[in-house]
Amino acid sequence: MSGILDGKRVLITGVLMESSIAFHTAKVAQEQGAEVILTAFPRPTLTERIAKKLPKPAKVIELDVTNDEHLARVEGVVREELGGLDGVVHSIGFAPQDALGGNFLNTPFESVSTAMHVSAFSLKSLTMACLPLMEDGGSVVGLTFDAQFAWPQYDWMGPAKAALEATSRYLARDLGKQNVRCNLISAGPIGSMAAKSIPGFGELAKVWDERSPLAWDMSDPEPAGRGVVALLSDFFPKTTGEIVHVDGGVHIMGA
Ligand SMILES: NC(=O)c1ccc[n+]([C@@H]2O[C@H](COP(=O)([O-])OP(=O)(O)OC[C@H]3O[C@@H](n4cnc5c(N)ncnc54)[C@H](O)[C@@H]3O)[C@@H](O)[C@H]2O)c1
Repeated sequence: MSGILDGKRVLITGVLMESSIAFHTAKVAQEQGAEVILTAFPRPTLTERIAKKLPKPAKVIELDVTNDEHLARVEGVVREELGGLDGVVHSIGFAPQDALGGNFLNTPFESVSTAMHVSAFSLKSLTMACLPLMEDGGSVVGLTFDAQFAWPQYDWMGPAKAALEATSRYLARDLGKQNVRCNLISAGPIGSMAAKSIPGFGELAKVWDERSPLAWDMSDPEPAGRGVVALLSDFFPKTTGEIVHVDGGVHIMGA
């Protein structure tokens, strides 16, 4: 059976639990024919345990995306394992507790800086670490939560996502000549670890019960994963710097 990622080699960050968008991305990517390599944070053992639930085995490499030594190691390990890359998935987000949950006006810059480093600047760091591996071009895909709006509870993750969205556009601008595309999926709320760490995230998610044109299931990360796989495939060959919403349609609703 042929798949839309047949022959593609893809590095996927962010597999932590079965609820991770990245886990479902890896699952769909393998089902669609991709060879997948995973990166792990904070410990490879956690990701290795979850990786056993994928349809096919996948090598796991340790990667704290703020650690320059880890980033520098990626190229060699991936080259040895897969020979190169056709796709990279950035599925990483983090903000300290005092940057979330209604503390926006009092968050110290140190916490804002951490949120920006891990959640936004890392798209550039990861892409540049993988760029030498994408000799024939490639597709970089990240995950955002619509940064056009000021959401309840989301606080400094909002500006971090705005920075991620802008970073994606600038990467698209600068890497187009190497035939490397950079796009984002803007996902609706999903009950992952990252979401559960945001105090009051359930309240925010209720918006989807009231406003989503399409029925939205917070416990199902697969639609977002499918969106990522579509952007990794050859079916968006001339799309870059784009944000595709996989949010049930909430972003189009006026009231
Ligand atoms: N859950 C949602 O409602 C939702 C909605 C829209 C977008 N997103 C985004 O999707 C992406 C994946 O999140 P998720 O919901 O699957 O949650 P998750 O908790 O499963 O994934 C977040 C990942 O970030 C990784 N991470 C954190 N700090 C890191 C670091 N220093 N280096 C490397 N990796 C690090 C974690 O290991 C984890 O795998 C994030 O960018 C998140 O903001 C999530």
